[in-house]
Amino acid sequence: MPLICCVSPKGGVGKTMIAANLAAGLAKNRHLEVIAVDLDPQNMLRLHLGGDVADGHGFVKSVGNIESWGGALKEDSNSGVIILPYGQLSSGKSIKKDSVIRQKPELLWKPLVRMAASPGMVVVVDTPPGPSVMLQAILPHVDLLLTVLAADAASAVLYSNIATGKIYSEVRNVRRGYVLNQFDPMTRLGRIICSGLAEKIGDSLFGIVHRDEYVGEALAMQQPVADYAPLSRAAIDLNNLSDRVSRYLESLT
Ligand SMILES: Nc1ncnc2c1ncn2[C@@H]1O[C@H](COP(=O)(O)OP(=O)(O)OP(=O)(O)O)[C@@H](O)[C@H]1O
Ligand SMILES: [Mg+2]
Repeated sequence: MPLICCVSPKGGVGKTMIAANLAAGLAKNRHLEVIAVDLDPQNMLRLHLGGDVADGHGFVKSVGNIESWGGALKEDSNSGVIILPYGQLSSGKSIKKDSVIRQKPELLWKPLVRMAASPGMVVVVDTPPGPSVMLQAILPHVDLLLTVLAADAASAVLYSNIATGKIYSEVRNVRRGYVLNQFDPMTRLGRIICSGLAEKIGDSLFGIVHRDEYVGEALAMQQPVADYAPLSRAAIDLNNLSDRVSRYLESLT
């Protein structure tokens, strides 16, 4: 089963929210075994899925010693997602870990590829914003590169580069999907970006998620949006996204 990686050329667009809710959707609706892996030193992914804010365990301290990663795995009893947090690390130590991965990227990509190779297992990876050592290490091994864009002015400027493959151009033979997040149909720019993107990338537009207050509330309650507010616009959009991704997974079998 594949390695799905949520990326974005700019920060704050909703990667972590999408990664967490996609993982929960695939686990709950599709009964897949899902591991959600956080490669971002912000270490936020776990908080979307009931993780304990005081728990600093993560894989990064023991990168290079995969046997001890098990101690960092946490299952979210609600969604069934198994979470592998980055862990709590000072920025100095985090930079040191980056240099280890820069020199030996296989210390990161090999264990993730091995996890994803188990039958019925899907690995959903959240990444730091923009280019990063962690993303660079796994990029050549990703099966589905899910680029999250916000329906805002910055994405409007960037999206022609993204849609023509200029961003992440170093990865070839990867299925590219796009998610337009924080879409507000009441704004002119939102409508223009949405129709422009749909026209440009067609079937690769895996989902559109509306801007919705329930998203922030769900995070505050540390629950997937579909559990916190199942009838909300964002929950419906996120369900559609996990359906789209699971159709992609089915197409691989
Ligand atoms: N569709 C949405 N509607 C409303 N709020 C949203 C939506 N998507 C994300 N948010 C909010 O936007 C903020 C940023 O989201 P998130 O942390 O997922 O972005 P990110 O791309 O992972 O950021 P970073 O680049 O720092 O990792 C969060 O407060 C989140 O709750
Ligand atoms: Mg994030």
